[in-house]
Amino acid sequence: MREFPSFTTHLECSATGARYPADVLHGLSRAGKPLLVRYDLEAMRRAISRDEFARRMEGGFWRYRELLPVRRSANVVSLGEVATPIIPAPAIARLHGARELLVKDEGRLPTGSFKARGLALAVSMAKELGVRRMAMPTNGNAGAALAAYASRADIESWVFCPEDTPEINVREMAHAGAHVFLVNGLINDCGRLVAEGKATMGWFDASTLKEPYRIEGKKTMGIELAEQLGWRLPDVIFYPTGGGTGLIGMWKAFAELEALGFIDSGRPRMVAVQAAGCAPVVRAWQEGREHAEPWSNAHTIAAGIRVPAAIGDFLILRAIRASGGFAIAVEDEAIAEARAEMARIEGLLLCPEGAATYAAWRVALASGRVSPHERSLLFNCATGLKYPLPAAGRKIDCRRPVDFASLAVAAN
Ligand SMILES: Cc1ncc(COP(=O)(O)O)c(C=O)c1O
Repeated sequence: MREFPSFTTHLECSATGARYPADVLHGLSRAGKPLLVRYDLEAMRRAISRDEFARRMEGGFWRYRELLPVRRSANVVSLGEVATPIIPAPAIARLHGARELLVKDEGRLPTGSFKARGLALAVSMAKELGVRRMAMPTNGNAGAALAAYASRADIESWVFCPEDTPEINVREMAHAGAHVFLVNGLINDCGRLVAEGKATMGWFDASTLKEPYRIEGKKTMGIELAEQLGWRLPDVIFYPTGGGTGLIGMWKAFAELEALGFIDSGRPRMVAVQAAGCAPVVRAWQEGREHAEPWSNAHTIAAGIRVPAAIGDFLILRAIRASGGFAIAVEDEAIAEARAEMARIEGLLLCPEGAATYAAWRVALASGRVSPHERSLLFNCATGLKYPLPAAGRKIDCRRPVDFASLAVAAN
């Protein structure tokens, strides 16, 4: 990969605006809030253009290198990232009387989820800054991405997940070389263990938003979708929200793209989708609060959005409000049903979190919060293949004559 100019100027506390130097290792700000990477956007504006991005055919989100914090190409840790497709769902749109519905399918990335974006950046920056051991709490996909990218970079990874994390994720993490621990609690309990153990174990804490670079990786979803849609953003974006890094990251991307003159000041309405069994952001949005109270007894089949308390809650809520969007919760039954409907009608196998966005879109459309003339985009954040599916298949005895006509009858 060739050397690109670097435009990072400093890091900034997302709550107080205090400045922090780039090129040194950081966790949270002194105020205990996430740090955001800032760039010299004026200089970047003179150096790059939309056409220049268009000319770069390869490299997935690394095509936007100037907008990313890695300084040296040698530190880029890559597993063959791709630009994920935006797939129209015309039959589903018709079924619900809408003009258009789009699905951005993040399941095509290495390790099968959008966590590859964040962890590619976090691990590349860890390599650049000399980290040898990383640890994080995870609901599955983030840990799998950390394990893969860290192994690729010859960095140790330690992951702590709730004991009911999907089995495939647990095995995937271990297979990719991580030290994996199953914890009899939720992701925030796992996060506490990482925080408590890091001094003794020499871990760099790579928890969502507790290090500044995962968000820069997730930001590329916003850049990529803008470019794919001809630099015209959709009217509404439905995002399955756990820690909220993707939603916050896309919101940051849109501001940077506007400063570069790549897009105008129009913004999509950002919709945070949560499960009814764990909806702290929805509750805070409904109550008009700046922060979300932790959710007790969190439960949902959509493991990735089972996050009872998010450190970036105020950033999620700000982005939703500034965009004129909203937060919405859907029941697990609606998620499972939406997942089946999308697969049956469009052939798209969503993950449960992705299916939650489709379930939410249906409700929002029916209630008039989204108009049938608007262009909505759903995020499917992981391949559906990582999650359990209902049992299927009928047995046939191939040693006996088969009454084929009866197969169709029995199927109906
Ligand atoms: C498939 C999937 N969707 C959504 C999320 C939530 O992502 P975020 O932390 O950006 O809110 C996760 C997080 O684990 C996930 O794995």
